[in-house]
This record gives sequence, C-alpha cells and structure tokens, in this order.
Amino acid sequence: MKKRILSGMRPTGKLHIGHFVGALENWVSLQEHYQNFHLVADYHVLTTSLDTSMMLKNTLDMLKDWIAAGIDPAKSPLFRQSRIKEHTELYLIFSMLISKERLERNPALKEQIRDLNIATTVYGHLGYPVLQAADILLYRADAVPVGEDQSSHIEITREIARKFNSTYAVVFPEPETKLTRFSRLPGLDGKAKMSKSLGNTVYLSDEPEAIWQAVRMAVTDPQKIRRNDPGRPDICTIFTYHNVFNTDEVPQIRRDCESGVLGCVDCKKNCAARISAFFAPHRERRAALTDTMILEILEDGENRARREAAETMERVRTAMKIG
Ligand code: TRP
Repeated sequence: MKKRILSGMRPTGKLHIGHFVGALENWVSLQEHYQNFHLVADYHVLTTSLDTSMMLKNTLDMLKDWIAAGIDPAKSPLFRQSRIKEHTELYLIFSMLISKERLERNPALKEQIRDLNIATTVYGHLGYPVLQAADILLYRADAVPVGEDQSSHIEITREIARKFNSTYAVVFPEPETKLTRFSRLPGLDGKAKMSKSLGNTVYLSDEPEAIWQAVRMAVTDPQKIRRNDPGRPDICTIFTYHNVFNTDEVPQIRRDCESGVLGCVDCKKNCAARISAFFAPHRERRAALTDTMILEILEDGENRARREAAETMERVRTAMKIG
C-alpha cells in the first residue's frame, strides 16, 4: 500500500509564486508516489480573521490554483476541514494529551502572533497545532510536506501521536516532515517572505503585464544604481527568482551582474518574462476551471475523506474503549 501524505493550506484566496515553490510544486511531485490528502484548513483561518464573508470565494480561488498546478483530484481527495466533523472530535481528544505549557512554548505560535500583529490571543491560537495534529493524524498520514516555518507544529503532532499510542493502543504513525525545495521565497520588497498580507507578491494567475509591473518594482542590490555598477547577486531578490524560474541562465546572470554589464532593468525584464512563461500553462488551465467544477470536486473529495476519517475514529474509539 502507498504511504500517505496529508498536506494543507489555509484558504486565503489565489496563490502566489511563493506558495508554488514552497508547497504546491512539492505536492504535485509527491502525488505519484504517495496517497495524498489535500486539506483546506478553513477552521484554522479563523485564528487570523473572524470575517468569514470571503471564505467560499477564497477557497475556490485557492483550489483553482491547486488544480491548475497539477494536483489531480481523481488521485487525491480535496476537502474542507469544516465539512468532516471528525476533525473537531479528534481535536477534542488530542487537547487532553498535551500540556498548556508545551503549547505556549511553540515557536510557530509566537512567530504568527508577531507576523500578523495579533492583538489578543484566543484559546484557539493555543489549540492551533492541536487541530493541525488532528488534520494530519485523522488520515493516519506518514508524512507532511511543509515549509520550515511549520516544523514545530509537526513536532507537536508527533508528540501527540506518541502520547496517544502509549496511553491507549498504537493507532497513529509518527509523521515525518518533508521539507520543500525552497521553504521561503523572498517578497518583491526584499522581505524574507512573500505574503499576501505584506503585499509583496506575484500571483500564479497574474497576466504577463501584471507580472512585469510587480517585478519592475522589486528591490535589488541598493549599491547597484546604474548599469556598469557591479552588483551582488547573492543579496538580490530578483536573482533568487532567476535561481528558481530561470536555472539555465543563472551562471551567466551572475557573471554579468557582478561585472556590471547587465543592468537591473534588463535583468528584471528577463525575470518577468521567465516567470510569465513558466506559469503560462498554469494560467490556461486555471481559466478553464469554473466554480461549479470545483464544488463538485470538493463534494467528491469530502465523501472520500469522510470515509477515512470515520475509519480512524472507529480505531480511536476501540483503542480508548469509548463510544
Ligand atoms: N498551518 C498550516 C499553514 O498555515 C495549514 C495547515 C492546517 C496544515 N492543517 C494542516 C498544514 C495540516 C499541513 C498539515 O500553512
């Protein structure tokens, strides 16, 4: 039997190129060798905003990008966390298996509170990784593909699995973290992370002109003011993008930037053109997807996910001798 993977994302709308290299690309390549489950973490999104008016639209926008990127819904079920009630059931049981102090120490929680300027922490923030553990273990996943920023959550998942298994009976694997190729793509403004809330993104669905407008404004080496000034590719955001989307030309670009013969405007034009070309098939596939198609895919995925979830909860109840 194929090993299992659970991957998830919060539905924050259409995805950007950072999501692609940090997650999606990896999910797509893993689906050949693993049984994948793809989760829309719509409960988790409530930890950042209580406004749910955009939830459905954001979910559909995100799923279009998943599918356009190559996630095959026939192979791997796609589903919303809120539609499978076993997530909350397992979350409650798991909340008894980990101490409050352990959750308060979680570095990912601290980072999130800082990055998103969260003013008051709610009970659900502490429980965030516990719910994530339920997401993963409900499908008895062997591995979780995530960026580095998520590894402390996955560590908590393993601790909860161990605690359950040693207290009752062995039901859960201890899932391993599968780190992505580029955990973090820097934003256009040179900040460490590309993120919608920072407004420093290139969307997967952006048309070539929008990509150019975004890339044109990107921060490069501040010491390279005009062509012929020698540049430092290793501190340049645009060079990082060349490294991802234009691998063939990287040695040449490095030489020409360092010697100065390549100016930033030409380098950016080339970069924008490469990104546009790279995602041209994505844009085409995405444009062919309708909301109705996505809703049907979800319904099918949710039925399949529900069967797995029910099976796991049977094992949990048997192990715990309850229900
Ligand atoms: N916390 C993840 C993020 O912010 C989203 C997520 C929720 C997730 N449940 C998951 C990721 C389970 C992997 C596995 O990106």
